[in-house]
Amino acid sequence: MKEILDLIRKEITDAFVACGYDEKYGRVSLSNRSDLCEYQCNGAMAAAKEYKKAPIAIATEVSEKLQDNPMFESVIACPPGFLNLILAPGYVTDYVNAMAEDDRKGVDKVAEPKTVIVDYGGPNVAKPLHVGHLRSAVIGESVKRIGKFMGDNMIGDVHLGDWGLQMGLIITELRLRQPDLCYFDPDYTGEYPSEPPFTISELEEIYPTASAKSKEDAAYKEEAMTATFELQQGNRGYQALLKHILDVSVSDLKKNYENLNVSFELWKGESDAQPYIPDMVEKMKKDGYAYVSDGALVVDVKEDTDTKEIPPCMILKSDGASLYDTTDLATLIWRMEDYHPASVIYLADKRQELHFVQVFRCARKTGIVPDTTELKFIGFGTMNGKDGKPFKTREGGVMRLETLVSEINEKMYEKIMDNKTMEEDEARKTAQIVALSAIKYGDLSNQASKDYIFDIDRFTSFEGNTGPYILYTIVRMKSILHKYEESGKKVADAKILTAASESEKSLMLELAKFNSAMRGAYEENAPHRICAYIYDLANAFNHFYHETKIMTEEDEKKQAGYIRLLELTKEVLEICIDLLGFSAPERM
Ligand code: ARG
Repeated sequence: MKEILDLIRKEITDAFVACGYDEKYGRVSLSNRSDLCEYQCNGAMAAAKEYKKAPIAIATEVSEKLQDNPMFESVIACPPGFLNLILAPGYVTDYVNAMAEDDRKGVDKVAEPKTVIVDYGGPNVAKPLHVGHLRSAVIGESVKRIGKFMGDNMIGDVHLGDWGLQMGLIITELRLRQPDLCYFDPDYTGEYPSEPPFTISELEEIYPTASAKSKEDAAYKEEAMTATFELQQGNRGYQALLKHILDVSVSDLKKNYENLNVSFELWKGESDAQPYIPDMVEKMKKDGYAYVSDGALVVDVKEDTDTKEIPPCMILKSDGASLYDTTDLATLIWRMEDYHPASVIYLADKRQELHFVQVFRCARKTGIVPDTTELKFIGFGTMNGKDGKPFKTREGGVMRLETLVSEINEKMYEKIMDNKTMEEDEARKTAQIVALSAIKYGDLSNQASKDYIFDIDRFTSFEGNTGPYILYTIVRMKSILHKYEESGKKVADAKILTAASESEKSLMLELAKFNSAMRGAYEENAPHRICAYIYDLANAFNHFYHETKIMTEEDEKKQAGYIRLLELTKEVLEICIDLLGFSAPERM
C-alpha cells in the first residue's frame, strides 16, 4: 500500500501546482503540534521567497483549493504560513480497513529483492558467550528478520572466531595434560578418533586456564603461538583437534542461541577462509598491492581525504601467520564467489571500526569486492551496568550470557508468580518468553551505536518503554479477543467503523504509520525505529482501551468494529515483535 504521508503529499502538491506554484513546496510532515493538527506543510514559507508574496497569502490560496477535498476534515492556513492538516476520520478508517484486509498489513515488499549476508554473533570458539556477544546476536538477528520481511534474500553467518591464538592455547594445554594422545604424535598416520578427547565443560575450563598461564609464562605463550602457526600450516593432528573443538563448541553455541531465538543460515568461521589465503596473498603481491614493511606483508589503504591516520591493512605477520584482517578479507572471497551478495553487513563492537575501514578499503582496492556490492559496518556501543561501566558480575568478573539470562528469567518468574494467575509450570515457560522480550527490547530500543545501561529493574517492568509492557498490551488484546469469541461472535468479517472518538482516531493514525516505520527501519537497518513505533502504537491502543467500553458495547456492529481494530493492532504488534526476535505468551 502507498504510505499515507505520500498520499497526503500528493494532494497538497497538486493544490500547490493548481495555484501556480512549484510542486516542491508541497512537502508534508507529521505535525509537531499535535494539539493543532495531525500533519503539516511548511512549503508556503519557502515559496514566499521565490514568488515574492506573503507566506500566509500562499497558504490561504492553497488551503482554499483543498476545502472540498474528502481526504481532509480541515486544512487551515495559519500565520505566518503553515498549513495545518487534519484528516477526515472516514479517510483514515478506509486506510486502516485496507490494511486489515492485506496479509502484510500495508507493507509492500521491495521491488527488487537483493541478496544480503549478515555477519553477526561472532562468538569465539571454546570461550563462553559473554554479554558483549549479546548485542551482536540480538541486533543482527533483527536486522536479518527485517530484511527478510521486506523481501530480501537474507543469509546470516555466525562467523565463528575459530582461528586465533585461542586454538593454539587450547592445543598447548591439552598436550601438557595428555601428551600421549595420538594428535600429538608426529608419526601417527592412522585415522583420528571420532569422539573428542574432552567435554564442553572441560573445554570451557581449559581455555581460561591456558589463557591465564600464557600471560604469566612467556615460554608457554611462545609454545601456543607455535601451535597456532603449525595449525594454520596444516598440522594434521592439530587440524583434527580443531575439528573436535569446533564440534563440541558449536553444539553448545547452537543451544545458547536457540534460547535467545537467534539462528544462522551459515555456521562458517574464520578457519573456512584459510584455503583462500595463499592465492589471495599471491595475487595481492603479483598485482603490486602487497609489500613487505618491517617484515610484515601489508597493503596501504590510506586515502588523500583522510583526516586521521589509517594504518595499512596487515596481511601476514613476519612469521607468515595470518591475522584478523586476513581472515576477513579471505572470507569475502568465498562470500562473493558463492553468494554474489549486493550487500554484506557486519555487526561488531564499534571499537572495531578501524579494522572494518581497513578491510573494506583493501577488499575494494585489490578487487575482491566490486563497487556494486555494498560493505556496511554497524558498530554497536557497550552494554553498561547501572554504574555506567561495562556490565560485570557482582564479583566484578565478566558476565556470562547464560548467567545473565537465567537471572532475568528468575526475576520474571517471581513477578509472574506474584500475580498469581498461573501454575508454576506455566509461569516458568511464560517467564522465559517475557524475559527474552525484556533483554531484547532493552537492547534494541536504543540506537545501536550508543552505549546503554542494562537496568534489569527497568527492563523487566510491565510499565514504560519496555518489552514486557508491549507483551502485556498484546496479552490484553488476546484476552479480549478470546472473550469475544467465547461469546459466540466472529471477528473475521467485521469492518472497522469510522472513528468516532479522539482516542480511536489516534489509534488509527498510529496504525496508518506502520508501512513508513517499516521502510525507515529497513533502509537504515535500524530495529530501534520499530521499537519506537510499537511503543507509540501500544500507548495509542491502551489510551483507546481505557476510553472505550469494548466488551459492554451493546451495538453489535460498533463492537465488532472495535474488535476488528483491536485485532489489526495486535497483528501489527505481533509482526513487529517477531522482527525484533521475540514473541508474546497467551497470558502473563
Ligand atoms: N569474533 C569477533 C569478536 O569476538 C567478532 C567477529 C566480527 N565479525 C567479523 N567478520 N570480523 O570480537
